[in-house]
Amino acid sequence: MIDLSTKYMGFNLRNPIIAGSSTLTSRIESIRELVLANVSAVVLKSLFEEDLMLECSPESRKFEKSGNYPKGAEYGGIRSRHPKMEAYVRLIGKCKSEFDIPIIASINCTTFHEWIPFAKRVEEAGADAIELNMFVLPSDPMRSSIENEQVYFDILTDLRRHIKIPLTVKISPYFSGLTKMALKLSWTGIQGMVLFNRFFTPDIDIENQSIVAGSIYSSPEEMAISLRWVGLLSDRVMCDLCGSTGIHNSEGILKMLLAGARAVEITSVLYQKGPAEIGIMLKGIEDWMQRKGYSCIKEFNGILSLKKAENPADYERFQYLQHINVIGKEC
Ligand SMILES: Cc1cc2nc3c(=O)[nH]c(=O)nc-3n(C[C@H](O)[C@H](O)[C@H](O)COP(=O)(O)O)c2cc1C
Repeated sequence: MIDLSTKYMGFNLRNPIIAGSSTLTSRIESIRELVLANVSAVVLKSLFEEDLMLECSPESRKFEKSGNYPKGAEYGGIRSRHPKMEAYVRLIGKCKSEFDIPIIASINCTTFHEWIPFAKRVEEAGADAIELNMFVLPSDPMRSSIENEQVYFDILTDLRRHIKIPLTVKISPYFSGLTKMALKLSWTGIQGMVLFNRFFTPDIDIENQSIVAGSIYSSPEEMAISLRWVGLLSDRVMCDLCGSTGIHNSEGILKMLLAGARAVEITSVLYQKGPAEIGIMLKGIEDWMQRKGYSCIKEFNGILSLKKAENPADYERFQYLQHINVIGKEC
């Protein structure tokens, strides 16, 4: 009997496949389809700070601008000020009453001063964990990298003080000192880290000579960056890692587990192939485990991490010095 369960952020997940945050996780109907298709946890669509800010009264926006929001006083009034937040809280309640898997709320915040009371509302509503979708675009030439990075620590430290449920942070690979940054983030008391987020990117239409939206869905090739960093970081950070971006099949999931991720978040493949693909992926994992003689994920989880792999240098090699191609010629 093959056991697909895994432990992520203290949760015993029935399998490693988590539905990543997207519009598919913003409505109870589509979440139900994912749960019926056997996802082990769901990350709800992020509530974005822009949404909350738009709902703010001119009075509270004044506080936002000044940065002197009266933190103690704001909590009581936050319900009436934020219908979107209340709808989010209702969705958490519905999910919790219907499904028996972890429901992870997602907040996108880097500047908004109401995120602590919001996170408290989310915790009160019964969310099992919070995933912080954080990204500071380093586009301001007046801000140093240290200042940009400090934002992450300020938010996490503050949240950890106020919130008891597990926290996970979904980051991008865009840090000059990614290893140190990931280590320091993992020391803030978070339970998980998602490597990596994939952002909306602009593209250029050369016929119309205009800026257009890039592809909103990932391709399997994009997994390579996350895989490298899961391998490099999984024995070093003090929290569980979750692989994300470009995971479209059971092979991708198995690679992440071998590199040391405890679970994966998938999104694009759910849009492109539908929830039924989850069953196909789980079957693929099971078949592989059977073929390799494994009965549970623990037996092979992390065996190809930086410290445990036979050729760990491969994770760090990034230049093509000499490469032998398949027919044996140097290229
Ligand atoms: C339509 C769509 C909406 C998304 N919305 C969110 C969101 O609200 N919050 C978030 O953290 N990520 C969001 N994402 C990013 C996904 O959660 C995921 O990180 C990204 O798509 C990479 O995973 P994938 O390669 O499996 O698609 C969204 C992605 C898509 C395609």
